[in-house]
Amino acid sequence: MASGSGASAKPAERLAALTARLRDLAHRYYVLDDPAVSDAEYDACYAELEALEAQYPELAAADSPTRRVGGTPLDGFVSVQHPVPMLSLDKSTDAAELDAWMRRTAERLDGANIRYTCEPKIDGVAVALLYEDGRLVRAATRGDGQTGEDITANVRTIQAVPLTLRGSGWPARFEARGEVYMSRAAFDAYNDAALADGRQSLVNPRNGAAGSLRQLDSRVTAQRPLTLFLYSLGWADGWTPNTHSEVMAQFPEWGLRTNPDFSGPIDGADCMAWIEGLAARRRSLGYDIDGAVVKVDSLLQQQALGVLSRSPRWALAFKYPAEEVSTRLEGVDFQVGRTGAVTPVARLEPVFVGGVTVSNATLHNMDEVARLDLRIGDRVRIRRAGDVIPQVVAVVEADRPKRARRIKLPDRCPSCGSPVVRIEGEAVARCSSAAHECPAQQLESLKHFASRLAFDIDGLGEKLIQQLLDAKLVSSAADLFALATDPVAELPRMGAKSAANLVAALDRARAVTLPRLIYALGIREVGEATARSLAQHFGSLDALAAADLEALEGVDDVGPIVARHLRAYFDAPANRALIQALRDAGVHWAESDPAAAGVGTEALPLAGQTWVLTGTLEAMPRNEAKARLLALGAKVAGSVSAKTTQVVAGPGAGSKLAKAEAAGVPVMDEAAFVEALTGLEGG
Ligand code: IVH
Repeated sequence: MASGSGASAKPAERLAALTARLRDLAHRYYVLDDPAVSDAEYDACYAELEALEAQYPELAAADSPTRRVGGTPLDGFVSVQHPVPMLSLDKSTDAAELDAWMRRTAERLDGANIRYTCEPKIDGVAVALLYEDGRLVRAATRGDGQTGEDITANVRTIQAVPLTLRGSGWPARFEARGEVYMSRAAFDAYNDAALADGRQSLVNPRNGAAGSLRQLDSRVTAQRPLTLFLYSLGWADGWTPNTHSEVMAQFPEWGLRTNPDFSGPIDGADCMAWIEGLAARRRSLGYDIDGAVVKVDSLLQQQALGVLSRSPRWALAFKYPAEEVSTRLEGVDFQVGRTGAVTPVARLEPVFVGGVTVSNATLHNMDEVARLDLRIGDRVRIRRAGDVIPQVVAVVEADRPKRARRIKLPDRCPSCGSPVVRIEGEAVARCSSAAHECPAQQLESLKHFASRLAFDIDGLGEKLIQQLLDAKLVSSAADLFALATDPVAELPRMGAKSAANLVAALDRARAVTLPRLIYALGIREVGEATARSLAQHFGSLDALAAADLEALEGVDDVGPIVARHLRAYFDAPANRALIQALRDAGVHWAESDPAAAGVGTEALPLAGQTWVLTGTLEAMPRNEAKARLLALGAKVAGSVSAKTTQVVAGPGAGSKLAKAEAAGVPVMDEAAFVEALTGLEGG
């Protein structure tokens, strides 16, 4: 590099020495967590290199430690095709499930001796690092597993990622995979500083890591305290290690940071104890985990076991039960939903649990309040699992203050003042006025109408809907389509541009599909899946609106209760008027006569068929299997009957499988199912 550069040998030598020293120091600091010198000494070294590179730009290497941060933001991320898919992991939650997996694994390997590895499941963001001739040339996100995004510029800013590998003997090209995360201490320090400077703070370490990697400007990413653990070899040219533990031992030699809490190879019988030990140490790890990962150590055995469509057979995640903490119940608010349901919501002394600060939790209904024997002032245990909504699990009875107050359902709707009624046998209490007469119901109905799975109206969120209602610009969903730009532009925090955007979004939303329309109406207990079944069954809104209870109950997923809600909805004059008003406002959707051949879903490969899924599916979540079947035109039923065309039975299938076999209904296993789906979707 120095020869032929024109600069004298001295600066070139000094530059090479400084570069090597800085790489060593960064390795000690960021990879080994074992700083060799003071920060001041490191900074002095860095400043000297920077100055020298400024003086002799032709000597500065592309992977110099001073060149981690790029200068110009990107316009967008480029897609990256993963040569080997980045899979996700199948999950277990208890020792029995782990055992069952180990037994299946042993069977598949014909009883061969199997050794395992155990490691923490880091709650961060998966990345794939591509090294060519020892240099980091690309970093990509997982994306959908097949195609990710090129985030090289952002990943280069992570000090624990070597731009140049250490040691020797690395393959000419290989991909190391791992998880980018933020330690708890770094997250806290970042937020403290952000708060002090009036900058936006991060919600939790995981979101912080994910958001940082999505930045188009790597200078922003560089400000975020990210690090990573590498946990697998994606693929390599000309390197064929025998085991996963061999890979994990080799990576650090090349400067690739691995988790010190890795354990293996160990016997299957010892995995559960390791997992329990990790759970006990969970709080003191310094970073968030959402479980442990058990892997088959031998890469040959891994290959023999193979992969399912989304997860490998050779690894299993063990998810810990949701974290529980305790806090004080400060009060109970009653919220009125779209269908008038009056729901008690716990107001809590804010508490950090499962990665976020929680200050509210739904109590569902008064039966739940009674079941918990909850009083205001009580100390309560709160749980939050992953992304799931927070939940009050129990009252700490021993801690009940003397003056704890009982919780009473209000007599009157907190929004419109109409009487609150509770029908005998129903858990839910309701506001007795019609939706269009109660402000809270109006707001919630409009929120639902505009939501992603309904009309999906860009930019129309809760705040704007509330403003539109307050200004009396709308009172029903149909009024939205009559909105003009001018009055909207005059609302607080709006302007000509956002008003024009909203009107344009509404204009686009006029063309809707029948299932979305049915869902958007917000009929009680009619969720997205039921709306789709209804649309498929009746083909038109008029046919649905005219159907009697018996006809309604003939639809999959529709029982007597939902049928009654549907009938009640279409019998109410206000609802009929709303539908007419939507039509008058130009809202339109395609309708089909389901009896006519070749129309709509009739043309789909599984049209007219009814499938039943039973047992555990390993290759994909059950709702994905269902969605893919629906997309192919099939109905998916919950039980086997004379109408059933095909049963898919995963491990643990019970009575449905027995019934299908007795009735002579064809049964396929999951492998055949995955193959069938792939074939049909391709064709
Ligand atoms: S191995 C095919 N090891 O978990 C198996 N994954 O649910 C590849 N993860 O997307 C993953 N820590 O981002 C593995 N020690 C670990 C992990 C880990 C976190 C994440 C990973 C993956 C997700 C799968």
